[in-house]
Parts: sequence; structure tokens; C-alpha cells
Amino acid sequence: MPMVELFGELKRYVGFGEADEQVLRGLSPLIQHAFQPTAEKFYARVLEHEGARVALQRGERQVGQLKITLVQWMQELFDGPWDPAYVERRARIGRVHVRIGLPQHYMVSAMNLVRRELLFALDGLIHPFSSDAHVALERILDIDLAVMLHTYREDLEAKQVKAERLATFGQLVGSIGHELRNPLGVIETSLYVLKSRQDGDPRTQKHLDRIGQQVHLANDIITQLLDLIRDRPLARQRVELRLLVDDVVASLSHPDTVKLELQLGEAPPPLDGDPVQLRQVLMNLLENAVYAASPTGAVRLSARVVGTETELVVEDSGAGIDPGIAARLFEPLFTTKPKGIGLGLALVRRIVERHRGTITATRSELGGARFTITLPGAHS
Ligand code: HEM
Repeated sequence: MPMVELFGELKRYVGFGEADEQVLRGLSPLIQHAFQPTAEKFYARVLEHEGARVALQRGERQVGQLKITLVQWMQELFDGPWDPAYVERRARIGRVHVRIGLPQHYMVSAMNLVRRELLFALDGLIHPFSSDAHVALERILDIDLAVMLHTYREDLEAKQVKAERLATFGQLVGSIGHELRNPLGVIETSLYVLKSRQDGDPRTQKHLDRIGQQVHLANDIITQLLDLIRDRPLARQRVELRLLVDDVVASLSHPDTVKLELQLGEAPPPLDGDPVQLRQVLMNLLENAVYAASPTGAVRLSARVVGTETELVVEDSGAGIDPGIAARLFEPLFTTKPKGIGLGLALVRRIVERHRGTITATRSELGGARFTITLPGAHS
């Protein structure tokens, strides 16, 4: 249900009307003194409780600013106007809590604290306000809580839609993948026949080899796609990083105007992993980096050992990651490329996680994006 409709429905349900609006406006100057102490108690409670405290990602420093926003929020409770913009602001606050992963049960108890403190403050006011004031305040707090809780439902529904979309997509990928295996198999067989009948021209040999390599690559990609939708065990082995990188770089197409710099050190550390999948990781990251750095720029791949792990960094001099999309970067089907399908980084993360590794995206000193992967080394 759209927020504005929900707002109308809630107003009707709790019986919030013009009379309540008038009462709240009348109360506003009389009750303001209670806002700051209520905000103090509110965050003292949050800080006391370890489950709620973790939501304060920037630590206690954040509390000062949050007290100010809470006081503003209380001010709006009493000042209105209780119009569509009001409910949108409330929904936005709710979505902020959903985004930071605050469990919704804290909203209910936090609202109880506010309710208790403000009702208590009302009781200290002179008589004519008391009963109507209680009712009006209870009604608007009920509405605010319902709107904020509704944003959790919105989030759940959005996740369900996404999960369904992914399931459909998974089936589609699965069937396309299987269908492609057949023509590739035919190409492979014909290639075998052609190889046995070739005319000795080295160019023919070169092209037959090239077809063979590309068929192999296409098969690998299908395997990776099927891998994204199913969990397949890794074919782990000791992987020589330099060989892996040489292989990827040989197949990577990039314009001469994009400088590719490799900093693997004297003796690049061996990795413990699935070479086909790790190749895909490097290929996807390097292709993205070249794309971002084009038409003119630089891409750097570096490696170093950190404790028992190997850290691989792929960075570029492109435009960098827009902070607005950073959170969705590794989601399947999310892409900023006009012709992309949004699988590259999702696959990368999936493969890295299967190797019990991590991947993070930050800003590079080259100016663009910097992807840092840590993988267990063969020495660990
Ligand atoms: C009655 C319940 C609550 C109300 C009315 C409320 C109100 C607000 C408001 C007005 C904002 C600013 C939103 C914006 O930037 O647009 C906010 C953000 C925030 N609230 Fe609440 N809050 C409530 C419950 C809680 C609780 C229980 C916690 C527990 C830690 C919490 C933690 C936060 C944090 C961490 C942010 C900042 C998120 C960010 O900007 O990254 N809130 N809240």
C-alpha cells in the first residue's frame, strides 16, 4: 500500500482528525521543554543496551547529532502539518533504520519510552489539556510507529520480489547454460575432425587452436554461470599466481591507451584455490577496471602476503564507485554498464567467499575503484 494511502487509513483507524491537530499545535510551546530530556533518556537507553548500541555504526559520536534529529522529530509531532510530506518524512526515517539493520522490536520499545516521557510531561501541564491531549498524542505516536514499522514490511516485500526475480533468473540461466553446451559440444567434435585433416598451413593451425581455446572458455563461463545458481565444490589445488595472471592478461583485451601495471613482486605467493574460478575472478575485475579506465588511464594488479593470506588488489584510474550504488555493487543483476547483465561482480564475490576469502571495494589512489581480495595462501 502506498504511504499516503496508509497514512489516510491509519488516521481513520485511530480517529486522528482536525481536533487532534489543534490540540497538538496548542500543546507545542508548552511541552517543548520535555524534548531534550526525552532525547537524553532515549539515547541513554540505546547505549545501555548492547543489541541496540551496535546500530550506532559511528559510535557514541553519532549520538549528539541523533539527539538533535530526535528533538526535531518530536517538534514535528506537535507542529505538523500532518500532510503527505509528513508521512514521507516518517517513512524515510523508518527506511534509515531498516538500512542500518536495526531490528524492528527496538522501534516498539523506543517508541514506548518516548510515549511515557511525553505523557508524563503532559501530566505536569494544567488541567484543560489533559484528556484530549493524551488522546491526540497517543494517536499521532501510534501513526508514527505504524509508518516506521511499515517500512520494515516494505523492505521484506522488496527482498521477496528480488528473491523471486533471482529464482526465475536462475532457472533461465540454468536452461540457457545447458542448451549452449550442446552446440559447443558439436563445435568441439568438428574441431577435432578438422585438426586431423588440416593442410599444414600454420595459420590454419593457429586459428583452430584459437577456436579450441574460445570453446573451452565458453564452457568455463557456462560452468561459472551454473555455479552462481548452484553450489559446486571447489577443485582446490596449489595455484601459481604468476601463471594465473599471465594467462588472464594474455586473454584480456585492452586499448594501448590503458596502461596495465603488474606488481606481483619477486616471488608471487601461491594460492590455494580453484584455478578456473580464480581466473574468472581476476578476469572480471580486470575487465571492469579496463572498462572504467578507458579510453585513457591505468589499471594496476598487485599482490602481497598478509599473514597467512594473500591480498590481491585490482585498481583503476576511472571515475570510481558512486557512493549511492556502493551497497549494491556485488548484487546479481545490478549493473551500471549499458551492455552489462550484472553478473561479473556477483560471481567474483561468490567465488571469493567460497574460497573463504573477502572482497572489499574502496577508492584507489589512482583515482578510481580499488577492489581488495584476500584469499587463503597455499602456505597457510
Ligand atoms: C521512536 C523510535 C525512533 C525514532 C523516532 C527515531 C528517529 C530517528 C531520526 C529522525 C533519524 C534521522 C533520519 C535521517 O537521517 O533522515 C534517525 C536515525 C538514526 N536512528 Fe533512530 N529513531 C528511533 C529509534 C532508534 C533506535 C531504537 C535506534 C537504536 C540504535 C536508532 C538509531 C538510529 C541511527 C543509528 C540513526 C542514523 C542512521 C544513519 O544516518 O546512518 N533509532 N532516527
